Amino acid sequence: MNKEQLMELALEAMTHSYSPYSGIKVGAALLCSDGTVYGGCNIENVGFTPTVCAERTAFFKAIYDGHRDFKAIAVCGGKNGVPSGQFPPCGVCRQVMREFCKDDFQIILQNAEGGCDVFTLKDLLPVSFRPENY
Ligand code: THU
Repeated sequence: MNKEQLMELALEAMTHSYSPYSGIKVGAALLCSDGTVYGGCNIENVGFTPTVCAERTAFFKAIYDGHRDFKAIAVCGGKNGVPSGQFPPCGVCRQVMREFCKDDFQIILQNAEGGCDVFTLKDLLPVSFRPENY
């Protein structure tokens, strides 16, 4: 599975978004080390704080199913379901990634040219509180 294929799955996941408040649809496709892919979307709530991001939806589905080894996640998002280029994961989602992923875990984001840029978890959360600190 290459980065463009994983992004296609994230774009599909975006269509599942429940986002009546912000109107922002976000999709994620999480690639496990065994090749399984989990889709996730943002799920909003009238109480706002119970809202969950697309990335965490994908992770929690995978964790529930017993996966603990992850290679990459593709993320896309935009207002009214129109992808708006780079849509980086929020800090809470980065911390969830930190719980389960190593420094070289890949975070694939769309760029303004319509391609995909690859970052590592170390790039996006360089000095982090991690399970080894506990
Ligand atoms: N959102 C995500 O799904 N992932 C992120 O990493 C950033 C934000 C969602 C949450 C909310 O439904 C909407 O985007 C606007 O914040």
